Amino acid sequence: MGLSYPYQIGTTEEYHAAWKKSVDDPEGFWAKVASSFLWRKRWDSVLEWNFKDPDIKWFKGAKLNITENCLDRHLGTLGNRPAIIWEPNDPEEHHRIITYRDLHHKVVQFANVLKNNGVKKGDCVCIYMGMVPELAVAVLACARLGAIHSVVFGGFSAQSIADRLQDAMANYIITCDGAFRGNKVIPLKSVIDDALVQCRFVKKVIVLTRTHTPISMIKGRDVWWDDEINKVETMGNPDFPAVEMDAEDPLFILYTSGSTGKPKGVVHTCGGYMVYTTYSFVNVFQYKPGDIHFCTADIGWITGHSYILYGPLGAGATSLMFEGVPTWPNASRFWDIVDKFRVNILYTAPTAIRSLMGYGLGPLQNHDLSSLKVLGSVGEPINEEAWHWFSENIGKGKCPVVDTWWQTETGGILISNMAGVTPSKPSYATLPLPGVQPMLVDESGNEIPGNDVSGNLCIKFPWPSIIRTTYGDHERCRNTYFATYPELYFTGDGCYRDEQGNYRITGRVDDVLNVSGHRIGTAEVENAINMHAGVVESAVVGYPHDIKGQGIYAYVVYSNTHGDEELSRQDIMQTVTRIIGPIARPDKIQFVTGLPKTRSGKIMRRILRKIAELDLDNLGDTSTLLDPAVVDEIKNGRI
Ligand code: WT7
Repeated sequence: MGLSYPYQIGTTEEYHAAWKKSVDDPEGFWAKVASSFLWRKRWDSVLEWNFKDPDIKWFKGAKLNITENCLDRHLGTLGNRPAIIWEPNDPEEHHRIITYRDLHHKVVQFANVLKNNGVKKGDCVCIYMGMVPELAVAVLACARLGAIHSVVFGGFSAQSIADRLQDAMANYIITCDGAFRGNKVIPLKSVIDDALVQCRFVKKVIVLTRTHTPISMIKGRDVWWDDEINKVETMGNPDFPAVEMDAEDPLFILYTSGSTGKPKGVVHTCGGYMVYTTYSFVNVFQYKPGDIHFCTADIGWITGHSYILYGPLGAGATSLMFEGVPTWPNASRFWDIVDKFRVNILYTAPTAIRSLMGYGLGPLQNHDLSSLKVLGSVGEPINEEAWHWFSENIGKGKCPVVDTWWQTETGGILISNMAGVTPSKPSYATLPLPGVQPMLVDESGNEIPGNDVSGNLCIKFPWPSIIRTTYGDHERCRNTYFATYPELYFTGDGCYRDEQGNYRITGRVDDVLNVSGHRIGTAEVENAINMHAGVVESAVVGYPHDIKGQGIYAYVVYSNTHGDEELSRQDIMQTVTRIIGPIARPDKIQFVTGLPKTRSGKIMRRILRKIAELDLDNLGDTSTLLDPAVVDEIKNGRI
């Protein structure tokens, strides 16, 4: 019945054997995994690479289209199986079930819409939508046509969208009138209109109706999704054969923050990303045909790309897509969904678990969670308390919990236990997947061998979904990931390896924050704060936050301190919301008269971090500061 997965690893012994094989003979290992996918033409070589440039080519010379693998090839056997189960924000509204046949039909239709509106292979299409099934259709239609999608999360501001549109010179946009999220309506089209004031190069905006929010439609530029579909139907619903892509043609761009400058466009390519997302999906979650997989992420982030769409669909799985938030209309929302659809795999984030823990066990009452087989966590280190709460109260002690470590740049899960196959250990991502070769290094890049050691986490050999470049700026890719330690991919994370060789990610070692599982660069927030007219300068650090993991703490030198402090604070928050989006809004703003700087003018962030963490007795040596007195003032003003 259904699919079987020749690359599925089913026992601890098989895991160890597969890992060894993947190191001894990586090309043989990956050729075998890749053989179970549909290629129009086989590869000439499995892997050619160097980390110096970097130049990484997987399955060179192979031709394929990822949507043939995610849709067409399942039609014969799985045509009537749900590909996507969609649960709306409002529990009163009806859910939708979209079979593989339906999804194929919709993707073909919408690929025709894109073509009719001038989109061609290689064009970049920006997608700014809420979590509706048409978002999945839009993404896959781009892939079918060979257009590069750039999905922007619905929480980003007009300025952030404009930056991303300009960076990729995206000529086309797909959006909605608005998005429902909890009790809010987010006016997506109006945000797009604000962004487009600066982006005259955008040719077409395709707008889906979702919230019936009044919007302005500009003649010649803006068209309605439904009208365009009607046109295709009038043409008799022509087919849209998938466009043949090279394995190394770009599939998508996804912007992510770093320690400096503006977000960069991480580029993933067709062949390797397809193979790795499906391979990791099947193995980490131990997916079995017929299982219902519920990943609670938004498709605006890499987790949604890889484990709502491409990974599950590549495996012919049923993926549950949820429009809303875990706590609206009440904190039972996830459990309603698990019960209603008999969900088997639940993949969520520590921040969601911690926020639901706060509501106690009441919201779980009268909910049958017995369908659950596997639980997963992603996005940030999961603390032991949340791990146990999840395992005991949601998994009832019988579901393995997989703690999956990966990054936007890695495309898929690199370090994780495999559900029921390799052991879990609370707060540890545990072991690398076969095909992944982690390495710990010290500050000078020397390998730290052995066990019970800590260091910076690097990967020493490519895997198929590794980042290929940062869009339009290859040097930046090299500098950020491949230059810190020669011949290694540097993750930016600190890590401990225990006596048994299990990996425990301890958090970022650069100036990047992880707020509710979302990556935010401190420099980016500082730039936004500094745009406010009254601000002289600022410094942003993270501090421990019970629910978000990290909160954003901003020290601000303000030119006009005799005004209304609270109002100034709100003005600054508003500025950050405008420039980046609500996700980057500082949790705390402390006004200071100066920042602790060295004589050469460098801000001593270590001290600011300690003060924000309330670790006031361990500030270290402050005598080298230009003005040591400023530290006491900042300490006394800690809010
Ligand atoms: C950073 C990547 C991968 C999808 C979501 C975030 C942190 C991610 C874990 C984990 C500890 C984790 C790391 C990483 N991170 N998963 N299981 N345990 N930390 O993607 O925005 O690219 O962020 O998230 O610090 O570098 P992202």
